[in-house]
Amino acid sequence: MGAPRCLIALLACLFLVEEVEPKVEFTNFKCTSLDPKFAIVEHCYLKSVNRTYKYLALKINLLQKPVTRIKVNGATWKRFNGYKPSLYNVTIDACKFLKNPKSNPVADYIHRLFRTYSNMNHSCPFNHDVIIDKLPISFVNNQVTAVLPVPPGDYMFQSHWYAYDINRATVQVYLTIF
Ligand SMILES: *[C@@H]1O[C@H](CO)[C@@H](O)[C@H](O)[C@H]1NC(C)=O
Ligand SMILES: *[C@@H]1O[C@H](CO)[C@@H](O)[C@H](O)[C@H]1NC(C)=O
Ligand SMILES: *[C@@H]1O[C@H](CO)[C@@H](O)[C@H](O)[C@H]1NC(C)=O
Repeated sequence: MGAPRCLIALLACLFLVEEVEPKVEFTNFKCTSLDPKFAIVEHCYLKSVNRTYKYLALKINLLQKPVTRIKVNGATWKRFNGYKPSLYNVTIDACKFLKNPKSNPVADYIHRLFRTYSNMNHSCPFNHDVIIDKLPISFVNNQVTAVLPVPPGDYMFQSHWYAYDINRATVQVYLTIF
């Protein structure tokens, strides 16, 4: 009788620990427009409301709408002595990808972390500002499964946003994976 109860208590405890421990901690978020005639960063920040509620917000104004051709290069950098390119360096045609997200599992994984909090959940053209509205870090943590596609460490995810093959903006996310 005692053993199963003991096991259940242990599992409950493991489950609670698993729930509370964050897998991802965001440390910085930076957005830069490289072409102010094309895009303006209205805001781009991480905010800690309190110990448990931290969110990421982004608003980029597009000045030459509609935008019909978008490419994104995303690369992961890992910190050793300074950040070094590591693991992923992928360029996608965002318009094709958004039409068929399953076509690129890595991009789909990243897109799923923020798409329900953004207005980037449709294919081209983009005829509105680009918004990520208070994406809770806890939501990201809940989406991240036990098996992360990268080993623990300090990372920087850098993305270059191209419209009509010209680099218009960069977005960098700094994070720690446990
Ligand atoms: C943190 O802030 C959120 C939003 O204001 C609130 O709902 C939550 O209860 C707060 N949590 C703590 C621990 O204060
Ligand atoms: C990613 O690949 C492109 C094309 O090969 C290259 O120009 C770029 O420097 C690479 N980025 C990183 C972070 O390694
Ligand atoms: C938008 O996201 C929801 C779920 O997050 C999904 O069910 C829906 O198909 C998406 N819409 C488009 C146009 O991708």
